[in-house]
Amino acid sequence: MGCALKANMLQEWRKHFILEEGMLEVDCTSLTPEPVLKASGHVERFADWMVKDLKTGDCFRADHLIKNSIEKLLADKKTTADLKNELQDVLARLEGFDDKDMQAVISKYKFKSPITGNDLSEPVAFNLMFPTQIGPTGDFKAYLRPETAQGIFVNFKRLLEFNQSKLPFAAAQIGQGFRNEISPRQGLIRVREFTMCEIEHFVDPTDKSHPKFKKVADHVLTLFSACNQMDGNPAKEWKIGDAVTQGVVNNETLGYYMARCHQYLLKVGVDPRRLRFRQHLANEMAHYAQDCWDAEILTSYGWIECVGNADRACYDLRQHYKATNVKLVAEKVLPAAKNIDVVEAAPVMNILGKEFRQSAKKIQTVLSQLTPEQLAEVELELATNKLYNLKIDSETYPLTDKMLAVKKYSKTVYVEEIEPSVIEPSYGIGRVMYAVLEHAFRQREGDEQRCFLVLPPLVAPIKCSVLPISNNVVFEPIIELVREELARYDLSHKVDDSGNAIGRRYARTDEIGIPFGITIDFESEQKPHTVTLRHAESMQQIRLEISEVGRLLSDLSTGRQQWSDAQAKYPKFEANSDE
Ligand code: ATP
Ligand code: GLY
Repeated sequence: MGCALKANMLQEWRKHFILEEGMLEVDCTSLTPEPVLKASGHVERFADWMVKDLKTGDCFRADHLIKNSIEKLLADKKTTADLKNELQDVLARLEGFDDKDMQAVISKYKFKSPITGNDLSEPVAFNLMFPTQIGPTGDFKAYLRPETAQGIFVNFKRLLEFNQSKLPFAAAQIGQGFRNEISPRQGLIRVREFTMCEIEHFVDPTDKSHPKFKKVADHVLTLFSACNQMDGNPAKEWKIGDAVTQGVVNNETLGYYMARCHQYLLKVGVDPRRLRFRQHLANEMAHYAQDCWDAEILTSYGWIECVGNADRACYDLRQHYKATNVKLVAEKVLPAAKNIDVVEAAPVMNILGKEFRQSAKKIQTVLSQLTPEQLAEVELELATNKLYNLKIDSETYPLTDKMLAVKKYSKTVYVEEIEPSVIEPSYGIGRVMYAVLEHAFRQREGDEQRCFLVLPPLVAPIKCSVLPISNNVVFEPIIELVREELARYDLSHKVDDSGNAIGRRYARTDEIGIPFGITIDFESEQKPHTVTLRHAESMQQIRLEISEVGRLLSDLSTGRQQWSDAQAKYPKFEANSDE
């Protein structure tokens, strides 16, 4: 059932984003060579702060340990009102803390290991990527990808070409992400391997408007801005159009994806009253992000980040360009040709090659990426000292004026190069699925033992149950007729022809979130064959011909019709069951 629910949520994600927005879809490898993740900054910085039990060595994620310790104190009747206020304030700012801030909190409140009560180490950075090697020699280092996004960035040139070299465009990828979480827990919420659905929307940084923004401008979202978090104010409802106009949300494209995210989450069954968009605090932002709004869903574990909507600016493409010297830019045709002055480094490669051998290529790359200010400095050094000392990492390369010159000339250009910005919605489908299951959980009023799931028919694993009123053989041909009708419309279904009482069988199908049930009774034998269709949530039933049931269920399952439409069209059936 879980497989089918996840598959349906992914299918709807594909439809809602890739199909409706005309995105390009890619499917890249999970194994990622180290240079890619070095360039992206993940090797150096994709880390969480970890503290260790000084005696047992047990490891904890520092921010989680602080949050849990504070929550314990807040729940303790002995904690004074003043201390509670202070702790609430720490909680509000926790997401933005660095290692020193966390250490200060741990020391001040004397937080200990939650397992043993022992003292804790200072926070240390723990890189979350799983290292491995490619090939038999072990020389080629790699990692399992921590996000699918990098696969899209390294394929940017091809994707741009496929889009007739025009901006904006978006590429999407569904696949596994891997993170060596310090303490995986809470079921699907924190695991070490999870399915991500990511979009990279490439846009001109000087124009982040979105052609379809008007369509969503009136869409209302609950926004928890960084200011409100810092000032201790609650989240507020905003029309996304107003939030962008007033600068609460940075730009239309980011706002557009937040609204589309809201629509998707509601479609798959998230309760809108338990959904908010929380802006990252300045220190909280990932190393690549400029602005970020997480879709957070309230569950029994508290507010959980399920989708990150980030403006990554030009960070990634620029980093990959720096590492490979392959320009990852788009071109914009200028309204009229113009003359520009070019200043560039002109290395003499055969001399550089003799002098610096295998480093010559690296030197050429770095020289080609110097800024106009750096080139002015090179020119001055070469003129005064006939030498320029080029520093790359910890090495210095003395370049003489025989090896290097600075060339200046003018040329006519017809296009302008643009380094695209990237807006990135990133979904963890397991977390969304967990939240949907919690929000779908219900108990029958007055009969609380009877639990059931109200999953939207769109994502429900089984759309319909088929229940003959008893296990009498006369129903067999009619069951077959119903099955054929359902198969014609690709509707997943489950026949329960066990001899159990019908009420018991309804309860069983309700428990696993089957939204509709077809009941076959003795009246169904008469021509034209009719059945009853039961709506699990309301337990109401209608009666209709078998030949109509496939089309109706298909419409109900895709949202083309609602149950109230079906009730208006078909006669009500009064159940005489034991419901
Ligand atoms: P957290 O702070 O909870 O660790 P994160 O900020 O690291 O999350 P992102 O890096 O923004 O998460 O990842 C994008 C999405 O991937 C998240 O919104 C979430 O849905 C999902 N995700 C991240 N880590 C995990 C995990 N360990 N298990 C399941 N899903 C995850
Ligand atoms: N690609 C976004 C993230 O992993 O956070």
